[in-house]
Amino acid sequence: MTRKILMHVGPETIDYDILLGGIKGDVGFTSKEFVDAMSFSLKFLRKLMGVGESYQPFIIPGGGTSAMESVTSLLRKGDKVLVVSNGVFGNRWIDIFSRYPVNVKALKAKAGYYVKPEEIEEEVKKDHYTMVTMTHVETSTGVREPIAEVTKRIRDYVDLIVVDGVASVGGEEVRAEDWKIDVFLTASQKAIGTPPGAGLLVLSENATKRLGEDNIAGYYLNLKNWIGVMQSMEKGKASYFSTLPVHLILMIKKAFELIETEGIGNRIRRHEIVSSAIRKGIEALGLEIVAKTPEAYSNTVTGVMLKKVNPNDVLSMSLTEGIEFAPGVHPDLGGKYFRIGHMGWVNINDVISAIAVIERVLSKLGEPINFGEGVKAVQEYLINGISISSSNIAP
Ligand SMILES: Cc1ncc(COP(=O)(O)O)c(C=O)c1O
Repeated sequence: MTRKILMHVGPETIDYDILLGGIKGDVGFTSKEFVDAMSFSLKFLRKLMGVGESYQPFIIPGGGTSAMESVTSLLRKGDKVLVVSNGVFGNRWIDIFSRYPVNVKALKAKAGYYVKPEEIEEEVKKDHYTMVTMTHVETSTGVREPIAEVTKRIRDYVDLIVVDGVASVGGEEVRAEDWKIDVFLTASQKAIGTPPGAGLLVLSENATKRLGEDNIAGYYLNLKNWIGVMQSMEKGKASYFSTLPVHLILMIKKAFELIETEGIGNRIRRHEIVSSAIRKGIEALGLEIVAKTPEAYSNTVTGVMLKKVNPNDVLSMSLTEGIEFAPGVHPDLGGKYFRIGHMGWVNINDVISAIAVIERVLSKLGEPINFGEGVKAVQEYLINGISISSSNIAP
């Protein structure tokens, strides 16, 4: 099998123009080509995150976890942090902060649910927290936290609001400035649709001011060490703290150009259509979605509960049929589900293929499903529910 559709949870199938954008043999880190790519990408990152000039953009090596850990640059010894966790990646914040001299409290939701905004409000009114962290889309379950509502409720009570948008930025509406969020972060391999290797984040003015000498971050992920590089590069001047992933950044620039051509609004709409179509197909097959309520559904990840068959068998047989899906990783749902990633350059024809493969594979493995109903439901949704226009296909 040489051609396959990668509907994992990042990286996903990548547009070849993006990969080719990074195939350059002679690009130094002080070259005009690289500095221009950084400058364009930093500026575009603001648009993608829905923020203006007062926010400071960063592109740093690593990925989602390096961007997450870098927010320790905004903390001081003894600060209190509230972690809002809806699953595995929410819990990652707890693991990160456990390595630093801060006090952490966590509010946790059951698998398939999100922590309710009122519960978070109640907690921040009880105690003063320097920082609250949330996960926009919890990739382990596909659950989306209503972050705009949460920030409205807690803004006046906390100093810093940090959102992990690793599985959301590029596929969900993000208006970090309107929502008064201090840090919004993501990774290159998710809905932006480039290879792994970089963490991307924006910091509000308020957050940027906290990058003091006494912050508790280490050396490499200390944003105080990176800010000068970002500011200089954005202005078109080469700068160095540690070598950036030059060729990946050329690819990020290409992806951002394609996103600009598509239009951010069109891109979000495409993700909405694709995710709705997937859910229609899954439900018509008689299967349950991991996210328990429609408000919790995300545009980028759908968990599918299985009644009888082993998800590992579904994954391996699907792969031989040409599509790679992702395993379920939430420990409380172990062995009972798999995930469909639908982000980046995914389109409606990928949905038809995905549902068709799931139907065939589950039927062969003996899972009780309404065979044939999945693809039919997707087609009916696409023909009746939406108009198929070029905006549903990524450029
Ligand atoms: C929501 C979320 N946060 C953080 C991460 C960690 O990102 P990375 O694997 O790039 O370090 C992931 C990875 O899947 C994620 O989905």
